[in-house]
Amino acid sequence: MQDYINPKLILESSAMEPGQVTWQSPSNLAIIKYWGKHGRQLPRNPSISFTLQTSVTQTQIDYKPREVAGQGVSLEFLFQGEPNPGFGEKQKIFMESLLDIFPFLSQMDLTIRSGNSFPHSAGIASSASSMSALALCLCSIEDQLFGTLGEDDAFDQKASFVARLGSGSACRSIYGGMALWGKTGEVAGSTDGWAIPMVEDIHPVFQTFHDDIMIVSKEEKSVSSRAGHGLMEENPFATPRYEQANRRLHELLPALRQGDIEQFGRIAEDEALSLHALMMTSNPSYVLMQPNTLEMINRIRRFRAETGHPVYFSLDAGPNLHLLYPEDAIHEIRPFIDEELGPLCEEGAWLPDWVGEGPEEI
Ligand code: PMV
Repeated sequence: MQDYINPKLILESSAMEPGQVTWQSPSNLAIIKYWGKHGRQLPRNPSISFTLQTSVTQTQIDYKPREVAGQGVSLEFLFQGEPNPGFGEKQKIFMESLLDIFPFLSQMDLTIRSGNSFPHSAGIASSASSMSALALCLCSIEDQLFGTLGEDDAFDQKASFVARLGSGSACRSIYGGMALWGKTGEVAGSTDGWAIPMVEDIHPVFQTFHDDIMIVSKEEKSVSSRAGHGLMEENPFATPRYEQANRRLHELLPALRQGDIEQFGRIAEDEALSLHALMMTSNPSYVLMQPNTLEMINRIRRFRAETGHPVYFSLDAGPNLHLLYPEDAIHEIRPFIDEELGPLCEEGAWLPDWVGEGPEEI
């Protein structure tokens, strides 16, 4: 597999003009979940996701020749306009881990300005949007300085590879629509190294799907995804889980082709509950769902049984609930949100979102 290690990407510093790059990149919601990893952020099973439209991070990087020579990365980090040394330190450690891929980073003074479209501490994981935005910016800097990533495919593939190193799920945010990450015999060209876009074979009904996010709790989660992935190593259900994910991918692909919303919805819900079951069967065990998460699940299933409307749920690694439904059901689903789900959200907060077009260079 391509590893992108390239010691040649180093500059005569006198030749470097100061520059700036800005990318806006979205979050994504996995239908087949990635949970469990090995090596340098490699997945234990393939995953597939919707890229979202309104939940985005915008990241701008200003770079100039480094004034004081030194080791590592020289970085100032501002989050939502304010210096944020905590986040800055994490980004610095991550970028230093990329020096074999982007050696020129050690020759620069960098200022990163980053911000999210969704309210800070809304309990929404921002690692996919922020890491993909950062990876896209780094690839743009490389291309500005070396002209090495002119081809769209080469650019996207490297951005996805680098985003993966920051946060596994982030590698799927490089593409609009649906993206697949992880090697599977079901899809040609799939690999553990980066995600690939699912351009063909997706029925139009899934290209405009809604994914409204119900904010059950704004609190930061008690167990990070990093720790959660780690606990999979000793989880007694790990091996059957990876088989289950592959089996469900096999069932999902024809449903996506045929526009089979019922099968899609069943798999999405089963995957969400499997993810949380893995947390509950880890050692130590933990629960990220809240009472209102379960109440929403019950209300959604009851509403679906009573009305026949195609509305389903998914969960990320947290208590917030993603409500999935096709565009033509919006007039039935929005009143249901207002009456039955909104009141269960913290301060009534929920965010409308839908399948998006992918990142954008600003
Ligand atoms: O990307 P990470 O390492 O934060 O893992 C997140 C994994 C899930 O969001 C729970 C599932 C997925 O595939 O996105």
